[in-house]
Amino acid sequence: MLTAFLDGYSCFVVLWGFFFPKRPFIDVWLVFDLPVPSKLPNLPASEVPSKSKVVWEKFSSQTNFERDMYFYGTFPENFTWGVSSSAYQIEGGWDADGKGPSIWDNFSHVPGNIKNGDTGDIACDSYNKVEEDIYLLRALGVKNYRFSLSWSRIFPSGRNNSINSHGVDYYNRLINGLVANNITPIVTLYHWDLPQALQDIGGWESSTLIDLFNSFADFCFQTFGDRVKFWITFNEPQVIAWAGYGAGTLPPNVNDPGSAPYRVAHILLKAHARVYHTYDDKYRASQGGVIALCPNIDWVEPKTPSDPRDIEAADRYLQFLVGWFTHPIFKNGDYPEVMKWKVGNRSELQNLPSSRLPVFTAEERDYIRGTADVFCFNTITGHRAVAWGLRRLLNWIKEEYGNPPIYIIENGVGIKTKSDVDDNTRIFYYKTYIDEALKAYKLDGVNLRGYNAWSFMDSFEWLNGYDPRFGLHQVDFDNPNRPRTPKRSAVYYAEIIRNNGIPLPKEDEFLYGEFPKNFWWSVATAAYQVRKLRQTLKVYVDNGKGLSIWDQFSHTPLKISNDDTGDVACDSYHKIEADVEMLKSLKVSHYRFSISWSRILPDGTTKYINEMGLNYYERLIDALLAANIMPQVTLYHWDLPLALQNIGGWENDTIVQRFKEYAELLFQRLGDKVKFWITFNEPYNTAYSPYVVGHNIIKAHAEAWHLYNETYRAKQGGLISITINSDWAEPRNPYNQEDIDAARQYVQILRGLCFLSVFYCRLPEFTESEKQRIKGTYDYFGLNHYTTVLTYKINYPAVTDRSWLNSGSVWLKVTPFGFRKLLRWIKEEYNNPPIYVTENGVSERGDLDFDDTWRMHYYRSYINEALKAVVLDGVDLRGYTAWTLMDNFEWAVGFDEKFGFYHVNFTDPELQRHPKASARYYAQIINCNGFPDPATGPHPCLELENSIVCAFCSFCSWRTGLGSFCFSVWKIIQKIP
Ligand SMILES: *[C@@H]1O[C@H](CO)[C@@H](O)[C@H](O)[C@H]1NC(C)=O
Ligand SMILES: *[C@@H]1O[C@H](CO)[C@@H](O)[C@H](O)[C@H]1NC(C)=O
Ligand SMILES: *[C@@H]1O[C@H](CO)[C@@H](O)[C@H](O)[C@H]1NC(C)=O
Repeated sequence: MLTAFLDGYSCFVVLWGFFFPKRPFIDVWLVFDLPVPSKLPNLPASEVPSKSKVVWEKFSSQTNFERDMYFYGTFPENFTWGVSSSAYQIEGGWDADGKGPSIWDNFSHVPGNIKNGDTGDIACDSYNKVEEDIYLLRALGVKNYRFSLSWSRIFPSGRNNSINSHGVDYYNRLINGLVANNITPIVTLYHWDLPQALQDIGGWESSTLIDLFNSFADFCFQTFGDRVKFWITFNEPQVIAWAGYGAGTLPPNVNDPGSAPYRVAHILLKAHARVYHTYDDKYRASQGGVIALCPNIDWVEPKTPSDPRDIEAADRYLQFLVGWFTHPIFKNGDYPEVMKWKVGNRSELQNLPSSRLPVFTAEERDYIRGTADVFCFNTITGHRAVAWGLRRLLNWIKEEYGNPPIYIIENGVGIKTKSDVDDNTRIFYYKTYIDEALKAYKLDGVNLRGYNAWSFMDSFEWLNGYDPRFGLHQVDFDNPNRPRTPKRSAVYYAEIIRNNGIPLPKEDEFLYGEFPKNFWWSVATAAYQVRKLRQTLKVYVDNGKGLSIWDQFSHTPLKISNDDTGDVACDSYHKIEADVEMLKSLKVSHYRFSISWSRILPDGTTKYINEMGLNYYERLIDALLAANIMPQVTLYHWDLPLALQNIGGWENDTIVQRFKEYAELLFQRLGDKVKFWITFNEPYNTAYSPYVVGHNIIKAHAEAWHLYNETYRAKQGGLISITINSDWAEPRNPYNQEDIDAARQYVQILRGLCFLSVFYCRLPEFTESEKQRIKGTYDYFGLNHYTTVLTYKINYPAVTDRSWLNSGSVWLKVTPFGFRKLLRWIKEEYNNPPIYVTENGVSERGDLDFDDTWRMHYYRSYINEALKAVVLDGVDLRGYTAWTLMDNFEWAVGFDEKFGFYHVNFTDPELQRHPKASARYYAQIINCNGFPDPATGPHPCLELENSIVCAFCSFCSWRTGLGSFCFSVWKIIQKIP
């Protein structure tokens, strides 16, 4: 009864602690917060390679999209969140109140041993700051705090004949304070700081340490065990053995790599088992806690995942690194087979009388086996943050050790900056690592029970002194008071704890619903990217087409990836029928394409009109109209006639008139059939010298608009406007005014919204009459949008959030939320104009995969955000255009980045087009005019393509943990022609 009551009312317990700060109700607290100790099963020895190699096999087939997709969900109620520290790294008071010296005191006092001559003499002075530290822990909202006991603070000589009551008092104050605040202490008995007196008798090379460590542990259980229910014997025993006795980099600096580490590990294992049994025999019944040891683990990937030898090597790495300690404890009391073979064989080759790896007796194996109640480990990033490795590592532990209860005891990142409280790198680290832990728990069934961040605060980082910093709190080591300041990562971590994970934000929830009737669905291309043909640069070969600046640019060596050109591109010039067929299958109501100025006016002027070029567009438009697809025509999509460039291009004022004449020709000749004109596509991108150039583009746009408005609109009745490209920008730190200002500036100025004075912005570089001429020259707001950036500081380059999905283009991160925000912003900033999205899409790189799930995900989530903008925010969105119909010439990256619904086989002279899965998916969205709720069905539009709906069960059900099922269903459906 009491248990159930307390589980449901945790705040009540906090209050309880508040009212009875000194002596907590141990039993109540025990029921509330503790892992239930249960004997772990004994397991047979690992095979070589171990069966856990399935982890590599399972994950190596993941696409990057599946791997990196951010996952939302929460941990169970009883999940424990904490932060970690260790005695020598934070306590200071190295010789206070009778504390004995440890090997680390002595080592750090030798000049040259530690970077910058740092020592742990004062460190964070936590020895004198119990209250402050507990206050910070409460503010974080942690459920546990993991710290270590300094052996020589309690037993100055290492032995229980010299008990330092001041040291005991210190830990009692700390533990009582934690318990009073409902924070579970997780206590490490040994975190590297051996009493010097014990080093003097041989340290961990001497088996007398087994007894001595046991007597220290026994004292700690007896003294603190009424309140401490979670014990760790050794922190990172491999480091103790290897760095202390093999490489010799850490004290006691023994350099004997071949043999000493194995001997020391042998003793550490026996000491661990001894302490475990002491707890089991004398304390468990009355105290009811758990006890384990805590290795450090780095994940390892086979170089070639398909090569069994590489998998074997990866497995061997983990057996030597981790299995060394955990195989005896969690498996059969003995070292991993592969370790015994390898070390044994090598010893034999060295003509040694016996293996350098010591041997356990049968009795010892029995004694060691099963001496851990839970599986604890540390994983710290040294080189690079590779968050997905954590999920695989957790799966490996699950497979290898029979899914024991797992606690991540240390996880964090060191950053080499003296005092950056605005530590967004660390936020991204936790954001991605905790997400991978969540996936392991939710999707893979890993028995994960707790997560602790390393570290509580900036502290003494061993050989590195006080650099780099790992803390969630900054400590000012130049100030004798050692003041602590929460970093932004502390605020972030507190939020994760409060949410008990990473719940899907309300505004990111999927919205079922439909777009308004008569919503336009379109897909876009651009002339240079899909349709041209020319033999050489010298002549206007292809039916009279003139050269454009892109012809010249793409023929300049080294300008384009692989020296690709748009010479042939998709050869749409000769493939009207094939292109219209694709558009029909997509079910689009509109098709956006651009006209090649130099195809119609080879030298850019109306002196000579290339009728064959015009005829091509007439045929295309007729074919579209015959298929009931309305053309949306861009007059200028970057490919300026070279002849005009040669007289100054957009920097020559006379171009305004040239453009107007070109536009007029198109209105005259095509305007009875074309009812939607875009004067310029993304003028900002065109504007390599923005002011002069922008000036003339805006004027050219305005002239074309007025011409249409005055002369053609009455009889043709179409719309004409300009399309701009804008990312959305978010402040990197939403609490920092500078970052917020930078985001605003980014959207307003850098991406050209304001620059486009047609939308009533400041018009600094125009005369009064020019302004009058430009003002209001739009019928709609044309928007190309792809991605979002993070800004910090005005005029600094934008960055991105590491948790955002990548695409095939470095600049394009999958950030659907930004789309809705931008649409809403345009509504508010420009007085609710009608908006047509004229481009939106995502690229891929590398091997062809028709099963382009990531693209379906992109369209699904972006179009859903557009739906929210319409339905929830009242944005006047009239149409949506996907970029792009088919893989094509992507400007400077040539054919490397592919955005198409249709794949084009560029090595096939026929340039065959084949639909990717996303083509069918987009057709379905169009057919349904959005996303009808299946629960309110049946919806014929969904049933028609039922298979495709299932592709997206994956995303909804990912959140409930059934993802892989739907992925496999999708794969099978794809095989049906
Ligand atoms: C934690 O809660 C889950 C259910 O939410 C339960 O299955 C599990 O046994 C609990 N674990 C512990 C250690 O109490
Ligand atoms: C601008 O273009 C005109 C022709 O339209 C040409 O006569 C003039 O030389 C050009 N100016 C420059 C600076 O190239
Ligand atoms: C557009 O043309 C109409 C009809 O000629 C005219 O009334 C209106 O003022 C024009 N708009 C602008 C902004 O010039």
